[in-house]
Amino acid sequence: MQNRQTNQGFNFHKYPTFQQNIDPKQRAWIEVKGKALETNVRKLRTKLSKNCQFMAVVKADGYGHDAKVVSDYAIKGGASQLGVATLKEGIKLRCSGVKKPILILGNLYTKRDLIISFKNDLMPTISSIRECLICNNIGKHFGVKFSLHLKVDTGMSRLGFESNKFVQQFEKIKSFENISIEGLYSHLSSADEDNALNPKSITQLQRQKFDELLKQINLDRNNEIKIHLANSAAMLLNSDFHYHMVRVGLSMYGYSPIANIDKNLLLEPALFLKVKVAFIRTIDQGVSVSYGGNFVSSRKTKLAVLSIGYADGVPRNLSGKINVIHNNKFYPQVGSITMDQMMVDITGSNEIRIGSTMLLLGSDGDKTISPLEWARKSNTIPWEILCSFKNRLPRVQVH
Ligand SMILES: Cc1ncc(COP(=O)(O)O)c(C=O)c1O
Repeated sequence: MQNRQTNQGFNFHKYPTFQQNIDPKQRAWIEVKGKALETNVRKLRTKLSKNCQFMAVVKADGYGHDAKVVSDYAIKGGASQLGVATLKEGIKLRCSGVKKPILILGNLYTKRDLIISFKNDLMPTISSIRECLICNNIGKHFGVKFSLHLKVDTGMSRLGFESNKFVQQFEKIKSFENISIEGLYSHLSSADEDNALNPKSITQLQRQKFDELLKQINLDRNNEIKIHLANSAAMLLNSDFHYHMVRVGLSMYGYSPIANIDKNLLLEPALFLKVKVAFIRTIDQGVSVSYGGNFVSSRKTKLAVLSIGYADGVPRNLSGKINVIHNNKFYPQVGSITMDQMMVDITGSNEIRIGSTMLLLGSDGDKTISPLEWARKSNTIPWEILCSFKNRLPRVQVH
């Protein structure tokens, strides 16, 4: 307290100086509707045969929704496995009490990380004999079998055994006594492309390659191994991609990666991005707004200053291209989106006040703004929009 320059005379000992319990809805926040996630999983599962399992992909903090909340509701909806990207994501779920099998979809390659994975009951994705050996040694050391999934590359050129060497390598892997191969999978690069059902598409070629490999390694005799290939798009394309399990992210969150999705599914977005109006001002005609002065008012304009910006994960290149919703009405965002704030033209509205809540993503009445629309306007994909939201935005569960 000695060097304090401000608020002189105030008794900092008498009052709690650094108050932590700020209202999460004080500035900008994400509301997550768990029930929507649960319902989406149930609806998606109606597309699967009874024996086909549903892995909820909850990496990147559940696509920005909060991995724990997503996991709990996805499990309620019938998900039997979870997929994360990193060791840390998996450990966080285990520490929060999640009991279902968890597959780490990213690559662990050091002995240390693989031991940590083993001790936390997380299954690694294995893409090489070297990694298999490490896992086998870990299993041997603890006197048990280390559960893992093998990945084979069929055209993504990311992780996975090389497909033309896999048959031979698989024979060797089967001889390792202290690993348990729980799954064998591959990943599709282009299942959300319009031509995915065309027999010559990358997606179909990848599936054919995968099928050939399965035939060559004669998996019938090892049918405890779960075969999986489909992401959301492939799962929705048709049942040829389902095998024993599907790994579903985007559509579970309520967004279809393909345009011609079965409309009866009626997936429901679970995420609502909301923000408070922090300030209101009226500017004359011909006045510039925000950095660079790219927007100049064409008339006397009432502006709401919203407490959200690109440091929260709203892409700056959406400046001047999006609307926000208040009371079932759209209002255009104007001027450059700044790090922490953005301006909205609310001319004509008497109902919006300082402290009013506005909706950036989600539905209000018959008005909807979707991450798919933001993605199109900012020349990216909805996955990136969802994963960009920062921790500065509290996640609030709504019922
Ligand atoms: C290996 C793997 N499987 C499944 C998914 C889920 O994909 P989607 O969100 O398209 O359903 C992802 C996501 O990127 C992934 O990396």
